Amino acid sequence: MRTYSKDIKKEEGKEVILKGWVNSRRDHGKLIFIDLRDKEGLVQIVFSPEHAEALKKADTLRPEWVVEIKGVSVKRPEKLINTEMPSGTHEIQATSLEIYAESKTPPFDVTTDGKEIGEEHRMKYRYLDLRRPRMQENLRMRANIEKLIRDTFTEDGFFEVETPYISKSTPEGARDYLVPARLHPGKFYALPQSPQQYKQLLMVAGFEKYFQIVRCFRDEDTRGDRQPEFTQLDVEISFTDQEEILALIQKTCLTVAKTLYPEKHISTLDENGNVPRMTYKEATKTYNTDRPDIRKDKNDPNELAFVFVVDFPVFEWKESEKRWDAVHHPFTMPQVKDIEDFEKQFKKDPSAMLAFQYDIVLNGYEIAGGSIRIHDPNLLSRVFEVMGNKKEDIKDKFGHILEAFEYGVPPHGGFAMGLDRFVAILQNESTIREVFAFPKTGDGRDLLMNSPSDVSDTQLKELHIKTNK
Ligand code: AMO
Repeated sequence: MRTYSKDIKKEEGKEVILKGWVNSRRDHGKLIFIDLRDKEGLVQIVFSPEHAEALKKADTLRPEWVVEIKGVSVKRPEKLINTEMPSGTHEIQATSLEIYAESKTPPFDVTTDGKEIGEEHRMKYRYLDLRRPRMQENLRMRANIEKLIRDTFTEDGFFEVETPYISKSTPEGARDYLVPARLHPGKFYALPQSPQQYKQLLMVAGFEKYFQIVRCFRDEDTRGDRQPEFTQLDVEISFTDQEEILALIQKTCLTVAKTLYPEKHISTLDENGNVPRMTYKEATKTYNTDRPDIRKDKNDPNELAFVFVVDFPVFEWKESEKRWDAVHHPFTMPQVKDIEDFEKQFKKDPSAMLAFQYDIVLNGYEIAGGSIRIHDPNLLSRVFEVMGNKKEDIKDKFGHILEAFEYGVPPHGGFAMGLDRFVAILQNESTIREVFAFPKTGDGRDLLMNSPSDVSDTQLKELHIKTNK
């Protein structure tokens, strides 16, 4: 049976088998030391003349070779204990060595934090880059966060429902990724920018408390906090109001921070332990942005400064298209009494109408946002209309949801959290690329798989596509 590096203490005095990668090698006269790396960390192995054959083989070892080592776990003398290594109170005195695979000299050092290496280089050899402890830790913590979220939501009576990826264009504000429909020449699916409409349809379907950790796709310019595909914690609740959703966002953020990052201090909570709130108007007036960074000390890597931004405007003027557009998305409920009140406020000043819409900002990044939705199909149609949609287009683009709302729709609302952003901030990373296993470059390329790439003429023909490069 195999023992992992972290468990050698428990095996003191016994013969164990370890497997992993050669992290480093040091020759000390007659002895050879290697640090062996497995998924749990490092362990020191000592080869000595007592086991001459193993020692001879060990002399050939180079960094990143993959090996199996048999040996005895022994306690190190007090002054040789390595406190930097979790296994450092012990070491393995090797009795035999098997080499599973050799490795070419890696294009860069995988034992450092990697910040000294060009990012394109790291992405091209991502499978090596991911070997470094920093990246292993980022992805491990990401998994822990996702597990904690799944557990707490499940305990709170939510359940996860998967929604389609091959879908229809949703008005989330970015450009869609299109997928040609082979069986329907000239027609296209769109990859969802978010499951917004599906989760609302799940409310019509009576699920009441939905969540999903879900991939979203947006064809927009990539930045430090944006990837073309990214992950949301997506949530929707029936019979809810803004207060309940804000409390849930707060609970989610604070549970993750307090449980998994006890070393961090949350600097902005009020005397009742609540995340403070600011209106959109206050934020833009005081901080000149709707994502205020209200940290007390921006040099402190352990400070978490959460703030809610509420009362966003419903509409913004889109000069390029000469029309009013939704600040969030068109399903967002305006703060109006009824459709008459809507008409009155819209006529007076569309830019002054406020929405039941909220964001939570952490250290200057928008990590989640959402809204209470319009569930009156007449008001929803009207909002589509004032945003410049023609009646036929509304039917074509949104007929399904308007029709669904005629069959007993509960009032509902929700939010979505950008998980990559939240994880990156918690892990003190400056870009979300550091918390993705396989991110894309700024111009949307995958340097490892070399995509986007050409496809065969046969594939194009099957899809009824002619390219015009
Ligand atoms: P929104 O578009 O605000 O809302 O997205 C929610 C959160 O997702 C994150 N995010 C991104 N993260 C990485 N890369 C991107 N390209 C990217 N785009 C957005 C942000 C953002 O706060 N359906 C609505 C939510 C709702 O109303 O319930 C939605 O998607 O952290």
